[in-house]
Amino acid sequence: MTKNKFTVSSFLESKKKKHNISMLTAYEYSTAKLLDEAGVDSILVGDSLGMVMLGYDNTLQVTMADMVHHCKAVTRGVKRAMVVGDMPFLSYHVSVEESIKNAGRLVQEANVSAVKLEGGKEVIDKIHGIVKAQIPVMGHLGLTPQSVNMLGGFKVQGKDEERAKVILEDALRLQEAGVFSIVLECIPEKLAKVISEKLDIPTIGIGAGKYCDGQVLVTQDMLGMYTDFTPKFVKQYASLGNNIKESVERYIEEIQIGTFPTDAHVFGISESVLEKLY
Ligand code: KIV
Repeated sequence: MTKNKFTVSSFLESKKKKHNISMLTAYEYSTAKLLDEAGVDSILVGDSLGMVMLGYDNTLQVTMADMVHHCKAVTRGVKRAMVVGDMPFLSYHVSVEESIKNAGRLVQEANVSAVKLEGGKEVIDKIHGIVKAQIPVMGHLGLTPQSVNMLGGFKVQGKDEERAKVILEDALRLQEAGVFSIVLECIPEKLAKVISEKLDIPTIGIGAGKYCDGQVLVTQDMLGMYTDFTPKFVKQYASLGNNIKESVERYIEEIQIGTFPTDAHVFGISESVLEKLY
């Protein structure tokens, strides 16, 4: 795929050209820079930061201030990938006006190129408002973590006919409302296939199988850094958690036995200056 900046148009073009879109999460500058340099198409500043960065049990305590702070750090590290900022719980539930203002903050203060929000028909008026304000919106259906208390836990969604139909209808409604892409989280692979085939916009799967038009994972999960809970759909491409622990153990040991620091890590001073200090 092109080395040019990845944009909303690139999302739509990718579906036509059958280029599978790659997306990962990032929450700060250094990781975002590495992901961008590696060539990922899009970076999501997910509200999953509540769990993997801030140590909460779920995403509900994440605030707009948290999102602005982390989105700012990420966009400073990214040149090519399209950065999407998650709208946190309650930032788009109260009114259309408030939703537009909050989406606008992520664009104006934190420089993201699009926002993502969770939900189906209940958020259509908010999507309309935000898109009318010229802010691209990504949808999110299936397992929507901000509804964890209503869903009764982090469970696969859309297994029965009624729920599967609701997710499909919501996907069509979201497309009609103007979203440029939809994340499908934790739904059966064949349901994701039907939805992806019926939509003109690309679907981005997480736990939704290979027929989606792109994939997203939480970076800390795929690098083996977040070990509190590893969902079935995660593939670990590295064990950075173990690497970090081993490196820190070696560092502690070398301090104890005096093999760090060495001459390579210190600064000199002339003898004449030194003499004057005694
Ligand atoms: O918050 C997040 O990281 C997400 C992804 C899991 C899609 O919404």
